[in-house]
Amino acid sequence: MCGIMGYVGKNDATQVILNGLAKQEYRGYDSAGLALRFDDSIKNIKIVGRVSELKKLVEASDFGGAVPASGMGHTRWATHGGVNVTNAHPHESADGNIVLLHNGIIENAREIRVKLEAEGVVFASDTDTESACQLLAKLYHGGDALPAMTKLCDSLTGAFAFVILIRDRPGEIWCARKGSPLVVAHDGGASYCASDPTALLDYTHDLFFMEEGEIARLTEDGCGFFGFDGSPREKQSIFLQWDSVMADKGHYEHFMRKEIDEQPDVLRLTIEAHTDITSVDMEKTLKLPPGLMSRISRVQFVACGTSYYAALTACNLMESLDDTLNVRADVASEYRYRNIGRGDDTLAIFISQSGETADTLSAARIAKSKGVHRIAITNVRGSTLDREVDHSLLSLAGPEIGVAATKTFTAQVALLSILVLQLLKLRGALSTTDEARLIGGLRSIPTKQQAILARDLDIKALAEKYADSKGFFFIGRRENVPLTLEGALKLKEIAYLPSEAYAAGEMKHGPIAMLDEKLTVVAIVPQNDLREKMLSNVAECRARNAPIILLATDGDDGVKAIGNDVIFVPATEKELFPLLGVVPLQLFAYHVAKTLGRDIDMPRNLAKSVTVE
Ligand code: G6P
Repeated sequence: MCGIMGYVGKNDATQVILNGLAKQEYRGYDSAGLALRFDDSIKNIKIVGRVSELKKLVEASDFGGAVPASGMGHTRWATHGGVNVTNAHPHESADGNIVLLHNGIIENAREIRVKLEAEGVVFASDTDTESACQLLAKLYHGGDALPAMTKLCDSLTGAFAFVILIRDRPGEIWCARKGSPLVVAHDGGASYCASDPTALLDYTHDLFFMEEGEIARLTEDGCGFFGFDGSPREKQSIFLQWDSVMADKGHYEHFMRKEIDEQPDVLRLTIEAHTDITSVDMEKTLKLPPGLMSRISRVQFVACGTSYYAALTACNLMESLDDTLNVRADVASEYRYRNIGRGDDTLAIFISQSGETADTLSAARIAKSKGVHRIAITNVRGSTLDREVDHSLLSLAGPEIGVAATKTFTAQVALLSILVLQLLKLRGALSTTDEARLIGGLRSIPTKQQAILARDLDIKALAEKYADSKGFFFIGRRENVPLTLEGALKLKEIAYLPSEAYAAGEMKHGPIAMLDEKLTVVAIVPQNDLREKMLSNVAECRARNAPIILLATDGDDGVKAIGNDVIFVPATEKELFPLLGVVPLQLFAYHVAKTLGRDIDMPRNLAKSVTVE
């Protein structure tokens, strides 16, 4: 939540900051602001709205020809305090000495505010952030700011990534991190900080990911790091291989559409990195303690949002191949309330595109406290989850900018499927027939996805036909239940349409009461052992006058008479169907949202990376 960009160097800070904010706008977009440092002043400009509007305002501002050599900016996803200019960041202390912006939630903000107000400090906003800003102004008495920074960090509870300008410390930016991500870089003549590494790739790929409990001082000469006790810290940079062009829209109208199209390439990369022609090959990428998989009796997949649906898919696959394991999938925010077990017979696998989702991080820390063995799948090397777990695997999807996850979902499902096969192989629970069948199936997925993408115009026509539905029901069975959840989520996220997902057998236990000619049913009916049962459920819906779209296997012409419309996809192994079936569902949601004129890459109320619990 919230995107942060900071710069100190020799060039005009304005463009660097605006560019960095535009690249991180998907983190939050209800208001935006920036603070620019001139020789003897700090100018604070804030708006309610998008970065493009902030840019117009900044470009129309007259700084008397002066060029700011440092500054910072923020795009907000509101938590405390409504969406208005006063609550937008950066915040300024009443004495004007401190200008501060923040991502996270300060839990003891009210206490601090009451105390400071009693001392006569006048607050301007309703935010939790301003308490930190006013408190720092009280703690700072001139000179080196480190002692005041350490006291500030010690006094706060909750989560924060701060970037701070101090009026009498020109040429310096201060940062601190606890709970919310912050990445820092230096490229010779300048230092930068941002919430998300993609914002820094135009300048450098050598990045310092700030750790929990760290403070940083940035100048044009370099970055210094300290613990919350003020002790200096040595840090190693991490080289991020991503290309800045990968985070560019190119000729596409939306990032989401580009990212849907990237799936065959992403999957090829992911699959080839971990498999041979007929077998899993994770020897180099995953080094587990010897004998671990024979000791394990419980496997838990844990994630949020779309990543949770990837988790459910992996859970189904593992359970279907090994009946001696206790396997389950949990939403990360609920995992903490369960008695998850203790000790080294449990393996927990955490899945997070960003590697920064607060609930997933908390769940991983709880698992650690119980001695559970932990593997992570993330898309961001150097992210908190990547660094904190025992073993981490990268999904190799490249930067994903569209708020609705697409290519990272299929990359996660592919990587999780390979991981499941590897873990079962180590356990002696994978037959060579299943291994060869599923690896062969996986390796053919990218080409089949390409064939689906080539049918985009047909899917667009269907989306336009059904965009005025009052809602959608997605139904499927077994491995396709997570697929129905993901299909429905895409429509909710970007088209804002009521869309529900059900295990098809459940329809008649309630939801079927809602059906009529304006509620469209999308039924997942591949040619597998459950086809007939699915078709019976479809017939029940049809009898209630609901329009029906079927997702079926190429060549299964028999289904044409049963649905109003059919989307065909190539045949594949039944366990792998979600990797194909999700592509038309993504395209369908995209085109429905486009027909309805929605803001596809930045849907209302959402943020890509949810760093608050
Ligand atoms: C947010 C995003 C979703 C994402 C979820 C989990 O809600 O909008 O697209 O699936 O967070 O994010 P993660 O980075 O942990 O996969």
